[in-house]
Amino acid sequence: MLILDLLQTILLWKAELENYLPGTGPGSSVGGYQCSPDSIKTLLPAGSKVLYASHYQADATFTPPKEHNAGAFRASSFVLPRSACVFQANLTLPGDTQHSVGVVLPDDWNGRFMTAGNGGFSGSVSWGSVVDAAWYGFAAISTNTGHESSGAEWAYQNEEALKNWGYRAMHNAVVNGKSLTENYYGKDISYSYYRGCSAGGKQGLKEVEMFPNDFDGVIAGAPAWWTTRLQLWNMIVGIWNSPADSPHHLSNEHLGLLAQEVIRQCDPQDGVKDNMVMDPSACDFRPEELMCGDDATDKSTCLNPQQVKTVHKLHSDWVEDGKFIFPHLTMSSEYDWRGLVAAPANLGTDYVKWMLQLGGNWTWEDWNADLIKLSDELNPGNATADNYDLSPFYNKGGKLIHYHGWSDWSIATGSSIYFYDQVTAALQPKGIDLDDFYRFFLVPGMGHCAGTSDLMNAPWAFAGDGQSSRFGKDGSVHSVPGYEDARHDVVLAMMNWVENGTSPDELIATKFVNDRDPQQGVYRQRPLCVHPAQAQYKGTGDINAADSWECKKP
Ligand SMILES: *[C@@H]1O[C@H](CO)[C@@H](O)[C@H](O)[C@H]1NC(C)=O
Ligand SMILES: *[C@@H]1O[C@H](CO)[C@@H](O)[C@H](O)[C@H]1NC(C)=O
Ligand SMILES: *[C@@H]1O[C@H](CO)[C@@H](O)[C@H](O)[C@H]1NC(C)=O
Ligand SMILES: *[C@@H]1O[C@H](CO)[C@@H](O)[C@H](O)[C@H]1NC(C)=O
Repeated sequence: MLILDLLQTILLWKAELENYLPGTGPGSSVGGYQCSPDSIKTLLPAGSKVLYASHYQADATFTPPKEHNAGAFRASSFVLPRSACVFQANLTLPGDTQHSVGVVLPDDWNGRFMTAGNGGFSGSVSWGSVVDAAWYGFAAISTNTGHESSGAEWAYQNEEALKNWGYRAMHNAVVNGKSLTENYYGKDISYSYYRGCSAGGKQGLKEVEMFPNDFDGVIAGAPAWWTTRLQLWNMIVGIWNSPADSPHHLSNEHLGLLAQEVIRQCDPQDGVKDNMVMDPSACDFRPEELMCGDDATDKSTCLNPQQVKTVHKLHSDWVEDGKFIFPHLTMSSEYDWRGLVAAPANLGTDYVKWMLQLGGNWTWEDWNADLIKLSDELNPGNATADNYDLSPFYNKGGKLIHYHGWSDWSIATGSSIYFYDQVTAALQPKGIDLDDFYRFFLVPGMGHCAGTSDLMNAPWAFAGDGQSSRFGKDGSVHSVPGYEDARHDVVLAMMNWVENGTSPDELIATKFVNDRDPQQGVYRQRPLCVHPAQAQYKGTGDINAADSWECKKP
């Protein structure tokens, strides 16, 4: 996702410069407020700075100004789905620090509030997600969490900045976002929601744990919740596959081969041959089938014994001194391992340098297992969302939808299963049935937050955070085109749960023939089931039709 976003940003960079269309300026007046910097300033706490504020007509293009979105790997141009007031402001935080927030306030407001999460180490307002929320009619906010960068150097010897990133900026954005929204419209917010994936999934869980009153409904995708372990694992998997000229290194070519072999072996094991691995945990995969000896003439079409060992290592939990550290990559995630294991990931090395405070001269060659203890002890910014007792959120009536792609190559899917199991262990003794407020969906064949490989073409679209940016070219496509309802769109499903008490027993995921042009039609749809239920083929009917499948508990 990060890499794709980065590519997308670079591609849009040029178009953006040529395409800057300012808003139509202050004009609309809602609840007595003009959409102007002076008027907006009166809605914010003392010490806030309004960086800009303009009113836009529906279908106008909003381009977040570069000077205020310097670290914005997500910033490009966005088509406003409704006429709205758009502004960015800096709010103060403790220790003489500040964070930036981006806000969209639609003229025809649906009465609800939506907060969007971040990606990577944050460092930019998630404008795409905020604009997407406006499509539904939400008043929406996102924060850069207090820094403008995609790296982590800002965290060096900066405890306040770490806390801002860890949880403080998000909570401050929610509290102030709610009050400015109510004052702007002169009406109370009816319901408050959250949607985020990756880092954003973690931010959602962190909010549930620390500030259970912030939201009525939280949608957390592929959460990077176990910060202290995840960032080290991010790096260690690359170390296991390094250096690139060693015999045990899996090149991109070999990873492609491996991805194909996993589908070949694992797809039929679930009973339906459809290029999808429905339950990766149940696949008995043997990489040895790809093995060739040192005398093989074409080594690009097979794996040597050392490479097979690397595959086994990546498919196994990370264990040190007999202690479980982090779950393994799942079968069917291999197609994009190149994004993770080509070299030790920057997210991991940056984490050690700047968040564990070992400094800019640290390199991955300095790795030693004592860093795990240091990371657990420091827990920089208290970012890790590992308070599994979600009972305060449950008790106040909050609802949580959590999802994770079974083929996630960026954050091991097992970390979500682990989280769910820990919450179960914390709440069952209290007599709380998780199904009453927390539903966890595993998404077969989906990668990190969105998308699938060409090998699988698995249904992955259900309006999770960031997903709509994969449709069309200019951010003007929203929800799941043609299926904007509570069965197919997780935001609408969450609203139906919170507001009508109708719980989502399944969600339907969609794969379009061509995701960039959904008008070409649907390739296939399939139900996503509430964990631990899984979708099973009924035995008759088109395997690409959702109705041919049902959710069954194992
Ligand atoms: C707004 O805050 C960001 C940090 O979140 C900072 O980098 C930027 O310089 C601030 N802008 C102004 C105008 O103070
Ligand atoms: C890296 O090492 C150099 C030379 O020893 C030193 O001058 C510099 O301060 C170090 N940088 C950091 C960020 O620790
Ligand atoms: C750290 O975060 C957890 C929730 O993840 C919370 O329960 C705990 O109180 C926080 N600790 C501090 C010192 O803020
Ligand atoms: C609540 O249910 C009604 C009746 O089915 C429906 O029209 C409405 O859209 C639902 N509200 C939400 C937020 O889903």
